[in-house]
Amino acid sequence: MRTPPLRTPTTVNALLSEIADVGRDPRRGGYSRHVFDAAERELREWFAAHARRLGLDLDVDRNGNTWAWWGAPGANSTVTGSHLDSVPGGGELDGPLGVASAIAAIDSLQSSGWRPTRPMAIAVFAEEEGARFGSACLGSRLMAGQIDPSAAAALADAAGVTFGAAGRDMGLDPAHFGEDRETLDRVGTFVELHVEQGKSLAAGARPVGVASSILAHGRWRLDVRGQGNHAGATRMRDRADPVVVAARIALIARDAARSRDRHRPARATVGRLEPVPGGTNVIASRVNLWLDVRGDDDSAARSLVDEIAAAAQDAAQEEGCSVDVVEESYSGRVDFDEGLRERLSRLLGDAPIIPTGAGHDAGVLASFAPTAMLFVRNPTGISHSPEETADPSDRDAGVLALAEVLRDVDQAV
Ligand code: HGY
Ligand code: MN
Ligand code: MN
Repeated sequence: MRTPPLRTPTTVNALLSEIADVGRDPRRGGYSRHVFDAAERELREWFAAHARRLGLDLDVDRNGNTWAWWGAPGANSTVTGSHLDSVPGGGELDGPLGVASAIAAIDSLQSSGWRPTRPMAIAVFAEEEGARFGSACLGSRLMAGQIDPSAAAALADAAGVTFGAAGRDMGLDPAHFGEDRETLDRVGTFVELHVEQGKSLAAGARPVGVASSILAHGRWRLDVRGQGNHAGATRMRDRADPVVVAARIALIARDAARSRDRHRPARATVGRLEPVPGGTNVIASRVNLWLDVRGDDDSAARSLVDEIAAAAQDAAQEEGCSVDVVEESYSGRVDFDEGLRERLSRLLGDAPIIPTGAGHDAGVLASFAPTAMLFVRNPTGISHSPEETADPSDRDAGVLALAEVLRDVDQAV
């Protein structure tokens, strides 16, 4: 089959500049774009406008994921995409780079006169970061039947709004949340482009890499309870201060993961904690603390959590407090399809094949269809921060690589 040359794309940076002001967070810096909030809705409208411009047909599935189809939806489709939501105060690329690159890649394929032989789609998954409702990859995991739909509908954000109520506001029916084989079974191959979250590509000469694997990872909430009291009137020896326990837990987690990380990848992070009631002259009665743990495989991740939880219990007891540990979400280790990743690496001129410690919807899809990821070089490796970046020319190289990959996947038997 004739493969027309792809023109060097020029649109991904222009696309991202169109949304550069959407969801900026003046307090934290960077962007706070959370599922179904005003900023994320604006991004969904921006995506829909570009999909319509390209003649793609839009469909929002029953879990709030958006699909833009080139050709009638059907089996054995080639699907690319990512997410538009961010962590609190995140960078501009984690998520939107994959969506903007997908738009630019399809634009480039269309401009070259190429047409797919099977359906092609861009998917935008809902609540990938779990920043609003606490559960990572909520949209893709609901579709995959990996989360109980009524438990998902009951998840509440910081203001007490449930995922069900927020979904209803978007025109979704919470009674229809859950496993969606019809949508999932259309995916023949899934390819997600993402900014690299790490420095494997930074020192090398190649702007684009192919993913090998994702660490096992999960989130746990630790509810630490003590005795609320007066900061001036309570003698130091009479306190049951949950903030002290929370501080000890942060150190326990750091130390446990650090000693393992010398030999095999192991990560533990306390990035969010809330003292209740949270007054300068008040000994807190409770601290809600979230723990993010990652490991080389399931048993490594699980045993790290167990070690931290056991030491947290001891610390709580020593301080006259108690702690309950609740799992909020968990995803096992992912090894991407070996044949696909090798083929894509060769297609891209022996692009480096690199692992990642970050979770992705591609990790969920990988259990159902051959799945790959392309990473675009990140010169600092920084992500989940306003400092996340990638050179404009590397972003263009990512689009070109994605377009080549989509064309190749479409033509693979
Ligand atoms: O937390 C993560 O790994 C992510 O970037 N979703
Ligand atoms: Mn992220
Ligand atoms: Mn992401």
